[in-house]
Amino acid sequence: MFSAFYELSHYNQASLFVGACLRDQANASATSTIGCDDALACKKREPDLKRMDMGCTLTGSGKALPQLAVTNDDLAKIVDTSDEWIVERTGIHERHIAVEETSTDLAALAGKRAMDAAGLQPDEVDLLICMTITPDSVVPSEACLVKARLGLERAVAFDLNAACAGCVYGMEVAASMMEASALSRLGASSPLRISQGNAIKHALVIGVDRLSRITDWTDRTTCVLFGDGAGAVVLSWDDEAPGILSSFLENTDDPTLALACDQLRDLSTFPFADISQDDVCQIMAASLDEALPELERPRRASISMQGQKIFKWASKAMADAVMKACERADVPLDEVSLIVPHQANERIIRFSAKKLKFPVERMQISIGSVGNTSASSVLMALADAYAEGRIEGGDKVVLVGFGGGLTLGSLLFVA
Ligand code: UT7
Repeated sequence: MFSAFYELSHYNQASLFVGACLRDQANASATSTIGCDDALACKKREPDLKRMDMGCTLTGSGKALPQLAVTNDDLAKIVDTSDEWIVERTGIHERHIAVEETSTDLAALAGKRAMDAAGLQPDEVDLLICMTITPDSVVPSEACLVKARLGLERAVAFDLNAACAGCVYGMEVAASMMEASALSRLGASSPLRISQGNAIKHALVIGVDRLSRITDWTDRTTCVLFGDGAGAVVLSWDDEAPGILSSFLENTDDPTLALACDQLRDLSTFPFADISQDDVCQIMAASLDEALPELERPRRASISMQGQKIFKWASKAMADAVMKACERADVPLDEVSLIVPHQANERIIRFSAKKLKFPVERMQISIGSVGNTSASSVLMALADAYAEGRIEGGDKVVLVGFGGGLTLGSLLFVA
């Protein structure tokens, strides 16, 4: 159970610019001395910390876990594994598995907790993004289901699939939409041609996954890793608060499908030819086979992973992404108070800390009681960090996620 109020901040280069221009606009109307009519004057203005007083702030955070906790010893009863192996290789002691809870149940609960923490009413939410690879249905999207459940009447809602990096991608999309909305308020004062879109002041961003539904429970190399859960944040535009200083997104091809999950559907009623369901699956996967002709891969709706390959890539990628976010914000790494990484393997987190020469005590490690929960992982760990009092106003915090695709993303914000 977790619910708290967080006064967080969110700001990037675009909002820095927006902040400078919007503030100048306010000054112009007040004093008629400084205006933003001259685009270059605005553009050339150097970033100044004192000016970073407007942005997309994080005002609430929450998480939700299914009731059932499954220990390593429980798993050792169904596959050839042991508590010792799992703890030593991953840092995981137990994970929560949704038996009766749906993705919508978990997402709505985490979202409600984040909204309560932010003091936000349902009719104030303008945008809902759900990051997930395990929605309850493809259409309506998970976000549409959660919007209906929470009564977010005004919100536009859609899903986003960036696998385990979903948290960073979702927050970046929400922040960009809010910044565009703020820029559009500049109207004629903006040096840019900004399209007029929805006004977005409050966004609910939820990561939810029930990996238990796409786990092969006979495969010990994957089933000991995954868990279910949801994490959420509320982002609100604030005219007087700093926020995200930088972000970094990167996609790397995964030509050997080191991390994959096919989507099988029941095609037994396929009406156009007298062929088997297997044949139809093969045909539907033809584009992938054409791209990867040599690849033998299992056709199944469960996660397959070449663990060591992902481990090697992730350990370096995570450190690189953290550095990119710091460089883009011009913030030295030692000024970062806390890194909240994707909880895939405690060894990856420790390895990255070592590579970064960053004290591991300043890495949030939450994997022990939840395992790898994919899109919810970073947001659940962030909720833990706040609940544990590890983030204070003014702290610089980096979120970093990586996963299937391959997807990679980091985001640096001032709390
Ligand atoms: O969120 C998406 C990103 N995912 C990740 O970042 C996961 C990255 N990969 C990893 O975290 C690790 O590679 C694993 C935890 C998946 C595996 O750890 P590892 O240290 O790389 O083990 P391994 O694959 O090298 O396997 C070592 C041995 C093998 O036995 P042999 O061939 O040496 O006899 C495996 O068969 O451990 C065996 N093994 C197990 N033994 C007991 C694999 N899984 C298990 C198990 N219990 N659950």
